[in-house]
Amino acid sequence: MQNLLYALIQAAHNFGAVAIVAVGAYGFWCVRGRAVRGMALLLAALWALQALTGALFGSVTYFYDRHLPDIHGIAVNALLIKIVCVVLGFVLAVYAVKTNRPFWGSSFLLGATALGSAAFLRWFS
Ligand code: HEM
Repeated sequence: MQNLLYALIQAAHNFGAVAIVAVGAYGFWCVRGRAVRGMALLLAALWALQALTGALFGSVTYFYDRHLPDIHGIAVNALLIKIVCVVLGFVLAVYAVKTNRPFWGSSFLLGATALGSAAFLRWFS
C-alpha cells in the first residue's frame, strides 16, 4: 500500500513538474494580453500541486514509518531549493493573476531549477 501511494503521488508530482515547465515555455512564446490571467491561474494551481504532492511524500513516510525521510547534505539543500522555487513560483503566479503582467521566463527558470534539484534529491538521498 505504501508503495502504491508513493507511485500515485509521484505520478501527480511528475506531471505537475512537466506542466510547470511546459506552461512557462508556452507562455513565454505565445501568451500575451488578456490570456495572461487564465494561464497564470493555471500556473498558481500547478505550483500549489507541487507543494502538496511534495509534502505528501513526507507525510506517507511519516504515517507508515513514524519518522520523516532520513536525508542529509546535498539532498537537504536540493529539497530547500525546490521549496524556494515553489514559494517564488506561486507568489509570482498570484501576482500575475492580480496584475495581468506576464512572468513566463521566471516561472520557466524556477521550474527548470526545481527539476534539476529533483535529480540531486533523488540520487543523494
Ligand atoms: C515543496 C516543494 C517540493 C517538495 C517538498 C518535493 C519533494 C519531492 C520528493 C520527496 C521527491 C521524491 C525524491 C526521491 O525519489 O527520493 C520528489 C521527486 C521529484 N520532484 Fe519534487 N518536490 C517539490 C517540488 C518540486 C518541483 C517544483 C518540481 C519541478 C518543477 C519537482 C520535481 C520532481 C521530480 C521530477 C521528481 C522525481 C525525481 C526522480 O525520482 O527521478 N518537485 N520531490
